[in-house]
Amino acid sequence: MNFIDIHCHILPGMDDGPSETDGSLRMLNIAAGDGIYHIFATPHILPGTYENRSSGIRSVLEDLKKIAPETPRLSYGADVRVSVDLLDRVEKGEVPTLGGSGYMLIEMPDYILPPNVDNLIFNLRHRGIIPIITHPERHLRLMNDLPALGKLRDNGALCQITAMSLTGGFGKGLRKISIGMIKKGLVDFVATDAHDDRNRPPVLSGAYKEVSKEFGTSVADTLFLSNAERIVEASKV
Ligand SMILES: [Fe+2]
Repeated sequence: MNFIDIHCHILPGMDDGPSETDGSLRMLNIAAGDGIYHIFATPHILPGTYENRSSGIRSVLEDLKKIAPETPRLSYGADVRVSVDLLDRVEKGEVPTLGGSGYMLIEMPDYILPPNVDNLIFNLRHRGIIPIITHPERHLRLMNDLPALGKLRDNGALCQITAMSLTGGFGKGLRKISIGMIKKGLVDFVATDAHDDRNRPPVLSGAYKEVSKEFGTSVADTLFLSNAERIVEASKV
């Protein structure tokens, strides 16, 4: 398979992903073995906890590329937590999109949907950025409120769920919720959201098989291949 992983905490020392370069290399090795040929390295941007910016992320990525094998290819982005100053930081160029494309991963605060989230989506779209909401199946509000997720999509956001949610790695309940979201047409991408080489490794093949079994290969190809290919095509870095 020629998988693309659009959400992966693989850069060393930036967040709760690998602390050392060796861990990143082990993750790259696992990804290559799983048929992943392109990874968007997306460390957290979480004000107060992980104060990462585009320039710092890019420089760590360039260092990793010097010692990494050619495959998977590496681009950078970020897993961007929604915060009150997000638009300001976007304006200042501090928040990367995926590979310089028009797509940006955004993560909702743990327990709530911010009251101004529709405005945020509108303003991002107005600036040419398509927000991709990460793992709604693990968000305490969205997991139980598919109409709310549908509304975010109607307003212009896309949606990414986690491979391990589909394979049951986060429990049967989350698997069922994830399948339900696909069934309702609320999902655009499946990504690993990997953090290490053991507990949350960069693997997509198991989830691809699950989705193929439940919905057929055409749906699986859309969620694992063709939608992500569009991001790669729109990437500049
Ligand atoms: Fe993440």
